[in-house]
Amino acid sequence: MTLSRFSKYYKETNYRVYLLSMVICFLILLRRSTVVQNQPTPEIKSFITRHNLIASQSNRSYNGVQNKSQPAICSRQDNVVFIKTHKTGGSTVQSIMYRYGYIRDLSFVIRRTNENNGHIRFMEVTKDSPKKMFLPLLDTGTCSFRGYNMSAIHVVHDWEIFESFMNPGTKYITILRDPVFQLRSAFMFFRLYIGTIGKTAEDKLLQYTKRNLWKLSNYGKNSQSKVLGLKTEYFEDEAKIKLFINQLDIELDLVLIHEYFDESVVLLARELCWNLEDVVYTIENNRSNHKPNLDSELLDNIRKFNHADVLLYDHFNQTFWKRIEQQGPMFWRDLEEFRMLQNKTMYKCFNSSTIPEDYVSGHNISDYCDRYAGGNFLFKNVFTKQNRPC
Ligand SMILES: *[C@@H]1O[C@H](CO)[C@@H](O)[C@H](O)[C@H]1NC(C)=O
Ligand SMILES: *[C@@H]1O[C@H](CO)[C@@H](O)[C@H](O)[C@H]1NC(C)=O
Ligand SMILES: *[C@@H]1O[C@H](CO)[C@@H](O)[C@H](O)[C@H]1NC(C)=O
Ligand SMILES: *[C@@H]1O[C@H](CO)[C@@H](O)[C@H](O)[C@H]1NC(C)=O
Ligand SMILES: *[C@@H]1O[C@H](CO)[C@@H](O)[C@H](O)[C@H]1NC(C)=O
Ligand SMILES: *[C@@H]1O[C@H](CO)[C@@H](O)[C@H](O)[C@H]1NC(C)=O
Ligand SMILES: *[C@@H]1O[C@H](CO)[C@@H](O)[C@H](O)[C@H]1NC(C)=O
Ligand SMILES: *[C@@H]1O[C@H](CO)[C@@H](O)[C@H](O)[C@H]1NC(C)=O
Repeated sequence: MTLSRFSKYYKETNYRVYLLSMVICFLILLRRSTVVQNQPTPEIKSFITRHNLIASQSNRSYNGVQNKSQPAICSRQDNVVFIKTHKTGGSTVQSIMYRYGYIRDLSFVIRRTNENNGHIRFMEVTKDSPKKMFLPLLDTGTCSFRGYNMSAIHVVHDWEIFESFMNPGTKYITILRDPVFQLRSAFMFFRLYIGTIGKTAEDKLLQYTKRNLWKLSNYGKNSQSKVLGLKTEYFEDEAKIKLFINQLDIELDLVLIHEYFDESVVLLARELCWNLEDVVYTIENNRSNHKPNLDSELLDNIRKFNHADVLLYDHFNQTFWKRIEQQGPMFWRDLEEFRMLQNKTMYKCFNSSTIPEDYVSGHNISDYCDRYAGGNFLFKNVFTKQNRPC
C-alpha cells in the first residue's frame, strides 16, 4: 500500500478501522523485524514515526491525520514552488522537496532534456514552456502540462508565468544567504576568478568586485536577486530594487535563511503543515575548497558590489525573525524536537550525525535511508517516474 493511498484510506475511515490497521501494521513490523535482511518498508516506518510525532506534538493537523477532538489549525500544502538560488544550501532544500514529492506521487516541473538535474537556469520561461520544455505530469491517462504540484529546480522566478501552469493555491518559497559568503562561494565554484590577475584568491576577489568582469556570468553580482527576477539594468537603481523587494514580499510565502537552517526548515514545516519528519535533511555540496579570507576591505567591497543582494537579504532576514516571533513558544519546542529527530535519523541511517562523504546511494541500505541520502539519486527516481513520451 503506498503512503498516499494509505493516508487517503486513513482519512476516510473511522477509529475502529484505524485501530485494526495499526495492529496489522504492528504485526507486519514484528514479522519483518525478525528477518534481519528484510527491514520494515519505508511506508510503515514513516507511518510509525509520524504517529510517535503526533502523540507528542501539538494539535496541528498533520498529513490529514488529526485528533478529532481538536480542530485542525492548518492543512497540508502539497503544491509548492521552491526557487532554487545558487550557493545558498538550495540543494539541501531541493532534496527535501524531491523526497516529499516522490513518496506522494506529486508532479514536478523538470526540464525534459536534462535528466541529470532538470534545471532551466536562465532560459526564458513563458506560458508555452511546459509543452516545449517540461516533462508531462505523472501519468493520468492523457498527456498534461498544466497543474504541476512542485518545482524545485534552478529557474528565474516569475510568479505570473508559474501561476499559469502550477496548481491553484501554490506556495512560493526560496532561500537566501548572506551575500558576502554567497559571493565568496560562487567565486570559487563558478570560477569567477577567470580573467582576474592577482597572486592570491583574496586579490582576485577584490579585483573582481572592482572590474566589470561580472557581466560575463549570471552567477556573480547580485545573483540571488537575479534568480528572483531583478533585471541586470536595475542593479544600481535603488528605487527599482525596493519595488522588486516589495513585490517579492507579496509573491513569496516564505523565505528561508541559510544561516539559520534548522529554524528555516521548521518554519517551512509549519508554513506547509508538514511533519517535522518531512524536513529532515542531509547536507548537500558542503565543499571545503579553499575560500578567500575576508578582511574588512574585502567585506566592504563585496557589500557595495552586491548591493541589491544585501538589501534583499537584510529585508528577508528581518521578516524571517518576525515570522518566528509570531509562531509563539511552540516553535522552539518544534525546533528542539526537530533537532533530535534530525540526529536520530542520521544515526539510524548513516551511523553518524551526517552522511559520510563516500556514501553511495542505492547500496545495502533501505529505501527509506536512501531517500535521505542524496539529491542526485532522488532526482533520478523522480525523473524516471515522470518521464514518458508525450
Ligand atoms: C493548540 O495548542 C496550543 C498549545 O497547546 C494552544 O495554545 C492553542 O490554543 C491550540 N489551538 C487550537 C486550535 O486548539
Ligand atoms: C486529543 O485531544 C484531546 C483533548 O485535547 C487529548 O486529551 C487527547 O490526548 C488527544 N489525543 C491524541 C491521540 O493526541
Ligand atoms: C497534484 O496535481 C494533480 C494534477 O494537477 C492534482 O490533481 C492533485 O490534486 C495535486 N495533488 C495535491 C495533493 O494537491
Ligand atoms: C562544512 O564542512 C566544513 C569543513 O569541511 C565544516 O567545518 C562545516 O561545519 C560544514 N558545514 C556544515 C553546515 O556541515
Ligand atoms: C538577521 O537578523 C537578526 C535579527 O535581526 C540579526 O540578529 C542577525 O545578525 C541577522 N543576520 C545576519 C547574518 O545578518
Ligand atoms: C545523536 O544521536 C546519537 C546516537 O543516538 C547520540 O549518541 C548523540 O548523543 C546524539 N547527539 C545529539 C546532539 O543529540
Ligand atoms: C558506528 O560507528 C561507531 C564509531 O564510529 C563504530 O564503532 C560502530 O562499529 C559503527 N556501527 C555500525 C553498525 O556500523
Ligand atoms: C553490499 O552487500 C553485498 C552483499 O551482501 C556485499 O558483497 C557488498 O560488499 C556490500 N557493499 C557495500 C558497499 O557495503
